[in-house]
Amino acid sequence: MIKIFDTTLRDGEQSPGCSMNLSEKIQMARQLERLGVDVIEAGFASSSPGDFRSVEELSRVIKNATVASLARCVKKDIDIAYDAVKKAVKPRLHVFLATSEIHMKYKLEMTEEEVLERIQKYVSYAKSKCDDIEFSAEDATRSNVKFLCKVFETAIEAGATTINIPDTVGYVTPNEYHNFIKEIKEGTKGIENVDISVHCHNDLGLAVANSLAAIEAGATQVECTINGIGERAGNASLEELVMALKTRKDYYKKDTNIVTEEIMNSSNLLSHITGVKISPNKPIVGKNAFAHESGIHQHGVLKERTTYEIMDPKSIGLNKNSLVLGKHSGKHALRDKLNELGYEINDDELEELFVKFKELSDVKKTVFDEDIHAIMIREFQKVEG
Ligand code: KIV
Ligand code: ZN
Repeated sequence: MIKIFDTTLRDGEQSPGCSMNLSEKIQMARQLERLGVDVIEAGFASSSPGDFRSVEELSRVIKNATVASLARCVKKDIDIAYDAVKKAVKPRLHVFLATSEIHMKYKLEMTEEEVLERIQKYVSYAKSKCDDIEFSAEDATRSNVKFLCKVFETAIEAGATTINIPDTVGYVTPNEYHNFIKEIKEGTKGIENVDISVHCHNDLGLAVANSLAAIEAGATQVECTINGIGERAGNASLEELVMALKTRKDYYKKDTNIVTEEIMNSSNLLSHITGVKISPNKPIVGKNAFAHESGIHQHGVLKERTTYEIMDPKSIGLNKNSLVLGKHSGKHALRDKLNELGYEINDDELEELFVKFKELSDVKKTVFDEDIHAIMIREFQKVEG
């Protein structure tokens, strides 16, 4: 079983234009619960009074999922995060500290020894407050792997129950990440007793591929967001990852607790709340993801859906696929559309109509239902149905 850690309300909210107010976060969190995510990262409680309130409120509202708050590896953040999540049925503290040379030198101005000491001190401190502790090594994929093993060993000894290996800047490639995780698994004492989490950013468009490669290497938790929103180019998209696991169950042999029929509702709700539209070619939830335009494909799908569809639209909560009429469409799709609109035509009429349809589709990108009605009225002067 792969645990799904949803960070739409924390990392997702860091996406420009995606901030949400309290009532929007509550609506979204309730939907995430219907979707069946295992962990909801509700926010970064110490980052603002507003974030604190929303983490606190979500901790009250959410009943099934674990509720996490992010915290830097400092006492003040951990105290505030714990105050915000303590009333949750299942609270989690998510403590992070950067481990790459570049971050340690320029951002933290700390040595490796100082980083290890801080992890030991504050992960233990967090553990004294809460049983469920996740430790993230920020910028893990640009960190020295031997050092990273010491980092995770320290975090596990101090009480971490999940260790997270983020690709903070979306830098790693799938094979590389796979090997990296294997090395960490082999070099870190105690790792077999904790969840291994991955958190991939999409700067090179590899976030989902990297997460899948990580699962093959033994990751047991994946961090992701609805519609893939998140810092810069976003995070791994929950719907893509989950549907890849479900569609290729034959290959990955892993389940999730996600109720995939709630995917469309979750995606639409987020888009509605933030006002950020989904690109039409976005896998799974884009307008074109289950639309067929070419005649050959339309003919195939009309005869047997699985000829050109690897997923059933109903499995993501979409009523049905759509056949889009355009210049590549054929007679089968045109007849199907005419029948759907209530017209009954014979083969000769279809031939005639198809010529008109092709003329129109050469000048129009998409032929809509209204265009078909107009052709019917003009050419045949009869409207049925
Ligand atoms: O991208 C990242 O490294 C993060 C951590 C705080 C987990 O968001
Ligand atoms: Zn992130």
